[in-house]
Amino acid sequence: MDFKSLIDTEKLPAHVAVIMDGNGRWAKNQGLKRVMGHKNGVKAVRDTVEGAAEIGVKYLTLYAFSTENWKRPKYEVDALMRLLISSLRDELPTLMKNDIRLKAIGNLEILPEKGRKQLQEVMQKTEGNKHMTLVLALSYGAKDELTQATKKVAELVLEGKLMPKDIGPDTLENHLYTSGMPDVELLIRTSGEHRISNFLLWQIAYAELYFTPILWPDFRRANLFEAIYDYQHRERRFGKTSEQLKS
Ligand code: FPP
Repeated sequence: MDFKSLIDTEKLPAHVAVIMDGNGRWAKNQGLKRVMGHKNGVKAVRDTVEGAAEIGVKYLTLYAFSTENWKRPKYEVDALMRLLISSLRDELPTLMKNDIRLKAIGNLEILPEKGRKQLQEVMQKTEGNKHMTLVLALSYGAKDELTQATKKVAELVLEGKLMPKDIGPDTLENHLYTSGMPDVELLIRTSGEHRISNFLLWQIAYAELYFTPILWPDFRRANLFEAIYDYQHRERRFGKTSEQLKS
């Protein structure tokens, strides 16, 4: 089915986030090394990013590397870092052509220097792009994010700049990596796993969750369009009743 033509572009999710999972299994199924799964995952990243920009999604966040991923074998971590650097370099023209701004969230300080520099360069060069914001979650963990935001709020209290009674959801939100971005409205996870894996715990409070058995390297824009079509046929109640929404 051509889901793209069925999408209501007036009702797109403001922010789509994706847990790209299944690279290792994809490679194994082909009799290849895990790293080949990641390499082929880059093609899926490119197609998904272009597809999201094509229909007018404003924010797309991709979970590229978690705080837990540092525990993988060194050769796999090194290969992922190299892949990230080469992809950032190679994709710059595509980002410019599609008017896409790149941002990154996570504990970026612990990324290898070369990766951090490449990231900074692409973020700087795409800073003025307006059509879509692509957010890479790198060395990202939601528990880490919430912990560091809490520490910053505690410091403000200690310095007498903030009273505990004045702390609200916005206070914490202002100190998250995603400050200023809309909440996630659609979260997609590939590979048939039904987990959140420490991803954007605060920001997905009211997100619609979409799980697909497709392994990430096989994911294409048509699959994104199907997920968005599915999202548009959900009833988002935000705690209200169905009748309240209809009246
Ligand atoms: C999960 O599959 C995927 C990752 C940990 C890395 C995702 C990275 C890419 C798609 C490539 C580079 C990304 C960018 C943004 C250029 P897995 O290895 O956990 O798969 P498995 O569960 O089948 O083992």
